[in-house]
Amino acid sequence: MAFSTNQDLIPLVDLKSQSRAIKEDVLRRMGEVMDDARYILGKEVTEFEQQFAEYCGTGHCVGMANGTEAIHMALRALEIGDGDEVITAGNSFAATAFAIAYSGADAVFVDIDPDDFNIDTSIIESAITEKTKAIIPVHLFGQPARMKEILDIARRHGLKVIEDAAQAHGAELDGQRCGSFGDIGCFSFYPGKNLGAFGDGGAVVTNDPALAERMRLLRNYGQKQKNQHDMLGFNCRLDTLQACVLLSKMQHIEKWTEQRRQVAQWYREELDGTDLLLPHAHDDSRHVYHLFVVRTSQREQLMSSLAEQNIHTGIHYPNPLSKAASFKKSPTIPISLPVCSELANEILSLPMYPEMTKQQVQRVSHAVCQVVRKQELANEIV
Ligand SMILES: Cc1ncc(COP(=O)(O)O)c(C=O)c1O
Repeated sequence: MAFSTNQDLIPLVDLKSQSRAIKEDVLRRMGEVMDDARYILGKEVTEFEQQFAEYCGTGHCVGMANGTEAIHMALRALEIGDGDEVITAGNSFAATAFAIAYSGADAVFVDIDPDDFNIDTSIIESAITEKTKAIIPVHLFGQPARMKEILDIARRHGLKVIEDAAQAHGAELDGQRCGSFGDIGCFSFYPGKNLGAFGDGGAVVTNDPALAERMRLLRNYGQKQKNQHDMLGFNCRLDTLQACVLLSKMQHIEKWTEQRRQVAQWYREELDGTDLLLPHAHDDSRHVYHLFVVRTSQREQLMSSLAEQNIHTGIHYPNPLSKAASFKKSPTIPISLPVCSELANEILSLPMYPEMTKQQVQRVSHAVCQVVRKQELANEIV
């Protein structure tokens, strides 16, 4: 796609501004780690785990190498694996389903609600079989899934709940933080996430001390003590240098989240009255806008028109997971995901990052309105 050079770039995500804001603090913290050369499971990892558990409102946090391994370790800790089925949303990033596959279980995809883009709780029960062991709701784009309904279904069917909160740091439902509703909450600190490291990182949170202890062992070769391997373990520890970055960013996360919400509000004001469908935000929730995803039947036209004006956009995600070759196994119950399929062709992520200015939002919105209005006029002429 060709980008014009005569207008400043508005990226989809801007990681450079955040790095500038924390550079000195991060370098100081990293310098301390280097002085002591304690790179693996240094005290910064423990310090971050304590802060992040408190932030999520959970008793425990265990740092992991990335968000995918966080979900994988959560499933292992709950002893879910071969022959089991795990229900999740059909429109997540592939990592949710890959983590289920790593555990040995089969992912069963459920269609989504066309308004909030999260798992449709009214059809979860139709996907439950005698093999089902857990539900993994995904708080997609920063919007909390309908946890009350999900927990109720899980309780009635004796299922575990693992939240994929990779895109929902600080998101809330009825004042309670995402990640703290289910048995285990899983986070990613991939650089572009609302809380992002300078590389890969992840974490699990839980209120169950036994599960926390099990995940602590699982992430470190199953070792309680050096060379004592009581279980099949993995190497998926959160890196100490990444914990330094995360500790620095924790000081800003609330401010940055509010800035994201402000950017979303500006978009709403600027795009009000167009036939673009804006992200739905539930009244009882705190949407943290990891992404600002709109819906339009003019997606390709809009994307290329914005690109011509040096505005980057993205598609999250272009294919329902059930269509990925790696998951084309026949499930116990046939899967139909009409809403996922329809949305995959119509969703578009507009630029969203905390440092985005009102002028930038206006420039994006103006560019969007040119295409949307053109379409409206075209419709009138026909
Ligand atoms: C919804 C979702 N789940 C899981 C993951 C996996 O996280 P990671 O990339 O840190 O492995 C991501 C992010 O990449 C994600 O967006």
